[in-house]
Amino acid sequence: MSDIPPAETPYWRFVEDSARSVLTSYGYREIRLPVIEKTELFRRSIGEVTDIVEKEMYTFADRNGDSLTLRPEATAGIVRAGIQSGLTHNQVQRLWCCGPMFRHERPQKGRYRQFHQIDVEAFGLPGAQIDAELILVLARLWRHLGIQNLSLQINSLGTRNAQALYREKLVEFLRARRHLLDDDSLRRLGTNPLRILDSKNPALGPLIDEAPKLIDHLDAPSMAHFATLQRILEESGVAFTINPRLVRGLDYYTRTVFEWVTDELGAQGAVCGGGRYDHLVEEIGGQPTPATGFAIGMERIMDLLKAQDRHPSTQTAHVYLLAVGAAATCRAHPLAERLRDDIPGLNLVVDADEGSIKRKFRQADRSGARVALILGEEEAASGRIGVKQLREAQPQEAVSDAELAGRLGELLGLANAGG
Ligand code: HAM
Repeated sequence: MSDIPPAETPYWRFVEDSARSVLTSYGYREIRLPVIEKTELFRRSIGEVTDIVEKEMYTFADRNGDSLTLRPEATAGIVRAGIQSGLTHNQVQRLWCCGPMFRHERPQKGRYRQFHQIDVEAFGLPGAQIDAELILVLARLWRHLGIQNLSLQINSLGTRNAQALYREKLVEFLRARRHLLDDDSLRRLGTNPLRILDSKNPALGPLIDEAPKLIDHLDAPSMAHFATLQRILEESGVAFTINPRLVRGLDYYTRTVFEWVTDELGAQGAVCGGGRYDHLVEEIGGQPTPATGFAIGMERIMDLLKAQDRHPSTQTAHVYLLAVGAAATCRAHPLAERLRDDIPGLNLVVDADEGSIKRKFRQADRSGARVALILGEEEAASGRIGVKQLREAQPQEAVSDAELAGRLGELLGLANAGG
């Protein structure tokens, strides 16, 4: 779990603001949710026999003895909230949320125990059109962020029926090769064989490559759904590859699944994953409601921005007001308040604490400010204010109170509220 220091927060704001503006432009509305839910919710939605539920959840008993869990993902919580508030009942809803998620995984670059997702879900639309819309939202967001070289992988997991028929074929194949399976996979052979396909054990790679593929056992309506998705993506100019090995690590998916991946981040290359989950709302107590969504891993997006040299502008002070001496230090705050009123958008730091003028100039320089305002004994006596451009070789000016807002507005290119 990491702190996010001030030098990093401009990246977070950039990603959050970009996501908010793109999502709003497509009609998605923000929802905010608790970070703790009943453990049962995640067991039933993500699936008992998954890495997340078996190994990764932060689960504890509260003072009443209820079992609670720090959310490992947001979809289950949005579905729970949608059912409780009637939001998803017989209505189309486009929702998004953003915040920390918790998984007790082995930490490594790009994999954390507290990480952050932007999670987007659409309810009430059964067609491939909305799956395509989600992907188009993402393609636009990547353009907005200036991120390049992400590739889109898609697959279809078919209906529950198709999955059941395929499961028999898979079990037959794996039983014949059980000597090649690890302990987890042997156990899952009898409980949830599909999860063997997203095993994190690289030794199973060749076996998984050889196994029968779900996409070869799709039902006809799922094949049509998948074909429509591909057609919309092609006609919208979004490149993709079909990855028959893409099964995702959560049990709720049916039909479309997708991931955006990069090879610029080492082992943790998935920056976004999602898909359709048409049975989940019903399974956790709502009316049958088709649904589809995705989540972006924010830390991985930050890493990618840096790897691709995309740096957001950092907001530093425009002006550093330094005051020295009893009379001047009392004048500093009232003056600063007037400047804040007169120059909208002004970033102004006041330094009216103890300290020498030399030290204060050093601080002014470090703050990144373009202009220093100087209130010393001399200025206190003359009633004027010293104005020094910190990034230009210009002599210090002495400006009257009345002219100060106008002169600063000029120097900084900011409009003066008065004129
Ligand atoms: P997920 O694939 O488990 O899907 O997570 C989505 C993204 O979160 C991943 O692609 C990755 O970028 C990021 N992520 C996951 N675990 C970590 C971690 N330990 N550290 C850093 N980043 C991580 C879901 O969570 C689904 N709820 C997505 C979804 C929404 N499906 C439908 N609707």
